[in-house]
Amino acid sequence: MPLYNYDQYIKKFESLSSLVKKRKKQFDGFVKFLKSKTEYFIAPASTIYHLNIEHGLLYHSVGVTETLLKIKNALAPELEDESCVICGLFHDAGKAGLPGAPLYIKTKKAYEINKNLVEMQVAIRSLFLVSKYIDLSADEAQAITYHDGQYIPQGKDVAHRETPLLTILHFADFYTAHIIEQDMPVIHHPPFNF
Ligand SMILES: [Fe+2]
Ligand SMILES: [Fe+2]
Repeated sequence: MPLYNYDQYIKKFESLSSLVKKRKKQFDGFVKFLKSKTEYFIAPASTIYHLNIEHGLLYHSVGVTETLLKIKNALAPELEDESCVICGLFHDAGKAGLPGAPLYIKTKKAYEINKNLVEMQVAIRSLFLVSKYIDLSADEAQAITYHDGQYIPQGKDVAHRETPLLTILHFADFYTAHIIEQDMPVIHHPPFNF
């Protein structure tokens, strides 16, 4: 796992936030809510998979947004930075849980899932939380809701009808979590002769 530094990632979070212009007030309101009422800035990104460490959710959200902006600039420059920042930073906001009910509980050994939380998919909880504060476009809502792509059965709902934003958010999430966060080496076997 690469080294992660909380102060550095808070600065990155702030600099990404500065790309939000049209919905700045709503965005700031949501960040204030996340900071004061949820564990978004403290929670891990998972219990056993990627970034199961304190602040892991922040590191993951910032990392996905950075990857997403790179892909957007290369493939879909017509998409707005603002859309990418909102979807990148908040696609997993549901992992923070709800006010007074975090999704992840720290035990002596590891993080565990809080069973005292109304059950729903993380992505749906993300949509539930974000849309209380930020007016989302339909493609932003699709991107947040279906960001797991075809890795989960619900992805079938939109299979072959994914918008560009969902497609690149899914790939940015996947690449960041599986390759960057886990320092996955390039595995290459050169051609050989028998
Ligand atoms: Fe996710
Ligand atoms: Fe994610």
